Amino acid sequence: MAQRYFITSTGTGIGKTYVTAALIRQAKALGLTVAATKPVISGFDKREIAASDTGAILAALGEDLSPENVEKISPWRFAAPLAPSLAARAEGRSLDCAALFAQGRAFLRQDADLLLIEGVGGVMVPLDANNTVLDWVVALGAPTVLVVGDYLGTISHTLTAVEVLRMRGVELAAIVVSQGLANEPFSYAPSEIAHRIAPLPVLRLPYAAQGESLAGLVRNKG
Ligand SMILES: Nc1ncnc2c1ncn2[C@@H]1O[C@H](COP(=O)(O)OP(=O)(O)OP(=O)(O)O)[C@@H](O)[C@H]1O
Ligand SMILES: [Mg+2]
Repeated sequence: MAQRYFITSTGTGIGKTYVTAALIRQAKALGLTVAATKPVISGFDKREIAASDTGAILAALGEDLSPENVEKISPWRFAAPLAPSLAARAEGRSLDCAALFAQGRAFLRQDADLLLIEGVGGVMVPLDANNTVLDWVVALGAPTVLVVGDYLGTISHTLTAVEVLRMRGVELAAIVVSQGLANEPFSYAPSEIAHRIAPLPVLRLPYAAQGESLAGLVRNKG
């Protein structure tokens, strides 16, 4: 069966897309087939596709930024840089979570060695009036990678997210501590997190790393 991950994080701008792209590149380097989707994107500007999460994922996949590919990777696009529930409302729309969850289930049935779904915002960002990303993760049942930052406060944010994911029975595959800023001093956060959430692996992704440290998440064929 394909290796499948839902990529979520403790908040927005933490490193989900960076990790998703790194996993795609690792898989491709191993000669594996990979598909990825970022179904819901807010703050989307169609004049700046290359700079968007959708564009970053297409670039990592080696696919062009055609309207068809954009639609395939990110079917729900909203202009306002807000939580999806609010970004949709700003356009007089609402996000159809039944359709969103169905898209995820269909995506995960695809025939590829690695299937990646990037969430949106943090673990409990609202999607519509009732559902948050957590409900989406639970509905899909895919093993989850929790991307966290390396900043003062990340230990509490991380342990809080792990606690709610576990409360809802989500299978966690790993935590990735992504160093989003250059020149940060060495942090003890990964080891502080690791012993509190053992035996869940805590992987460190240094600033500008290509993703070698994530290789364990990408199973080699055979
Ligand atoms: N390990 C890293 N090395 C270098 N830059 C990083 C790393 N991790 C994150 N970043 C940078 O931090 C910023 C935010 O990361 P990213 O866009 O992946 O976050 P996100 O969680 O996907 O955000 P969103 O909620 O908008 O989807 C980006 O500029 C990204 O390139
Ligand atoms: Mg992103």
